[in-house]
Amino acid sequence: MRAHIITYGCQMNEYDSHLVASELVSLGWELVDSVEEADFVLVNTCAVRGKPVEKVRSLLGQLRKEKERRGLLIGMMGCLAQLDEGQQMAKKFGVDILLGPGALTSLPEALKQNARFWDLTFREDVLDYIPPPPKGALSAHVTIIRGCNHHCTYCIVPTTRGPEVSRHPDLILKEIELLKQAGVVEVTLLGQNVNSYGKDQPGFPSFAELLRMVGGMGIPRVRFLTSHPVNFTDDIIQAIAETPAICRYIHLPVQSGSDRVLRRMAREYRRAHYLDRIRKIREMLPDAVLSTDIIVGFPGETEEDFQETLSLYDEVGYDQAYMFIYSPRPGTPAYKHFQDLPREVKVERLMRLIEKQKEWSYRRNLEWVGKTVEVLVRGEAKEEGFVQGHDRGNHPVLIPAAQAPVPGLYQVEIKQATPHLLFGEVVGAREPAPIPLPVA
Ligand code: 5AD
Ligand code: SF4
Repeated sequence: MRAHIITYGCQMNEYDSHLVASELVSLGWELVDSVEEADFVLVNTCAVRGKPVEKVRSLLGQLRKEKERRGLLIGMMGCLAQLDEGQQMAKKFGVDILLGPGALTSLPEALKQNARFWDLTFREDVLDYIPPPPKGALSAHVTIIRGCNHHCTYCIVPTTRGPEVSRHPDLILKEIELLKQAGVVEVTLLGQNVNSYGKDQPGFPSFAELLRMVGGMGIPRVRFLTSHPVNFTDDIIQAIAETPAICRYIHLPVQSGSDRVLRRMAREYRRAHYLDRIRKIREMLPDAVLSTDIIVGFPGETEEDFQETLSLYDEVGYDQAYMFIYSPRPGTPAYKHFQDLPREVKVERLMRLIEKQKEWSYRRNLEWVGKTVEVLVRGEAKEEGFVQGHDRGNHPVLIPAAQAPVPGLYQVEIKQATPHLLFGEVVGAREPAPIPLPVA
C-alpha cells in the first residue's frame, strides 16, 4: 500500500507531515512521490490566507476525479481541516479521513476503519510522539510548543491549533539526541510562539533555559521559529549570546509599524516596545540577522499608517522580510468587524514595501562580502554548476559545485552579493570544516 503526502503552509506543517509519514511507515505503508503511484493521498493544509485555501480546493477537485476514475483514499489534515470551511470542502470532494492539527495520532485508527473517519480533537499523545529522524537529513525540525494563546484579529491560527501546550523537555531532548545520532547538524525548534515555551506547565524550563540545554547537546546549529515581540525577553537574548551553537538569526514578526494598526490587530505591543527589543538585540548580538513578517493593507490602514511601516523598516534595516497582503479569513474578528481595503491599494503598498525590502536585503547582503561564514550545503542549486546552502543567518549561499561535492558544513568566504543571494568559495580544506563544539 502506497501513500503520498502533499504539504502546504509553514514549518509546523512540514514537521507534522514528517510525523504522519513516520506513522504510515511504521504501519507498513510505502511512501511515494506522486499522486499517480499512490493508493492514499494525504493533504496537509494551511488556512492562514486565502491563497493556500484555494490551492487545496483545486487539488481536492483533482483528487476527487482521480478517486472516481480508479478508487483512491483521500485524507485531509492540518489547519484548514479544523475549520468549517475545510470540512465543507472535505464533504464536497469526498475526503475519507480528516484530521485536525491535534488529531494526527488518530491516523492508525482512521486507516483501520472502513468508513469515513473525522477527528477534530486535540489529543495529548500528539505531544508525546517522537518521529524517527528523517532519512539522511542534515537539518531537522523539532516542535517544542503547539498552539497559540494570542488573539491577533487577522489570524485564524488560534482557532485551528488551539491554546499553547508545551512538550515535555525530556521528549524534546530525546528527539534531538536521536537526530544528533543520525547525523543531523542543524535543528530548528518550532512553535507558533516559541518564547512562551514552558509557561503553561509548572516545572518546565523557560524558553531561555531550553535554549541553553539544547545548545549544549553538541548539535552544531540550533535555530528557532517563531518569536513574539511581546515576550522576547532579555533572558532569551542573553541565552543566545552565551550559547555558541544557537544561530543568531531572529525572526521577529512586527506586522505593522503603526500603533493605530497594531491596536486594531490586537498585537499586544506598540512600535516603541518593538524597537526597544531590536535595540537590545543589536546591543547584545551585534552580528544578529533580523527578519520579520509584515501585513500590508490591514482594514483601516491609511497611507500615514503605511508610511510608519516603511519608516520602521528603515529604523530596523531588516535583512529579510516576509510580506503579505491582508487576507480576510472567515472566523477571525477582523473578518467580522472590519471592511477590507480595495485590492489595488493593498497591491500598490505591497509593491512599495517589496522595493524597500530589496534595497535593505541588498545592503545587508553586501556587508557579508569578504567575510567567512559557515554554510550548510544541502545539494544542487537551480543555477547550473552551483550547490546551495544557507549560513547561520539563514542567507541562501551559492558555491561552485566542485568545491562542495558532498552535503555538509563548509567554511565559505563570501565573494559577491545580490539582493537575494550570496555567492562564496570554500576556504581551506574541501572537507566539511571542523565544527567548534560549544563548551557545556
Ligand atoms: N492575512 C495576511 N497575512 C496573514 N498572516 C496571518 N494571518 C494573515 C492574514 N489574515 C501572516 C502574518 C503571520 C504570518 C505567518 O502570516 O504576518 O506572521
Ligand atoms: Fe502553519 Fe498557520 Fe498555515 Fe496552520 S495556518 S499551516 S499554523 S501557517
